Amino acid sequence: MDQKKICWDISEKIRQSLEGVIGSKRAHKIVGKGSLGGTTRYLDQMAENAALEYIKGNSLKCELISEEMGSLYFGKDFKIYLDPIDGSNNALSGIPFYSTSIAIFSPEKEYGLVRDLVRNEYFEGIGGFGSLFNSKPMKKIEASSKILSLYTKRGAYVEELLQITEKMRCLGSMALEMCYVARGGLIALVDAREKARPTDIAAAKIILENAGGIVTDLNGEPLELESNKLCIVASKDKKIHSKIINIVKK
Ligand code: IPD
Ligand code: CA
Repeated sequence: MDQKKICWDISEKIRQSLEGVIGSKRAHKIVGKGSLGGTTRYLDQMAENAALEYIKGNSLKCELISEEMGSLYFGKDFKIYLDPIDGSNNALSGIPFYSTSIAIFSPEKEYGLVRDLVRNEYFEGIGGFGSLFNSKPMKKIEASSKILSLYTKRGAYVEELLQITEKMRCLGSMALEMCYVARGGLIALVDAREKARPTDIAAAKIILENAGGIVTDLNGEPLELESNKLCIVASKDKKIHSKIINIVKK
């Protein structure tokens, strides 16, 4: 089956599973612990189960790496990195900024989809081809101010980064924020917390890189999707990226 179809179908199953759940009391119910020790709530579980049902129902021979369940092995054809809801805390707090993030890696191809679950906008990255926004080649948007998204550790780098940007934000869905970097609405995303996981950023990394952007660790080294304690510097502009690295490198 086509990578794009799989990602799109999964995102649609997730979207449907959340109808009537977001905004309800039961969405908040704690139903277990995630693979990395975080709290799994009913909302996250519904979304992840919808994806799992699709994978099982279509007998996909893949390894699924998903935020709550961790890694599940169904075969070796390809790998799926899934964050069913990136920005669960936003969703549970009535803040309309959250997304589904799905990346597929096979020996020949990589494909990433980040779907904004509120506005139904979507970003795609197609390895070796480019990036799309709502199915059209991604064009840079004209931003009137330089905005950088910073996830800081104990307030580090705030003053220094304000020297190269006009405004700072932290919006609560890193996958979506990296897509905003790809479109030019944010000049960069910096996460210095050592807390980002491959499921948070795998799809957005494909999208940003295929839009001509750069994603590295705090030392400017390529980011390997193996650790669950990732730090990230993502930007579309090489000059801005190296200015940031000069500030945050260890
Ligand atoms: C969260 C988002 C957020 C980041 C958190 C993540 P989740 O994802 O990516 O931007 O700050 O660290 O946990 O848990 O809401 O899917
Ligand atoms: Ca999540």
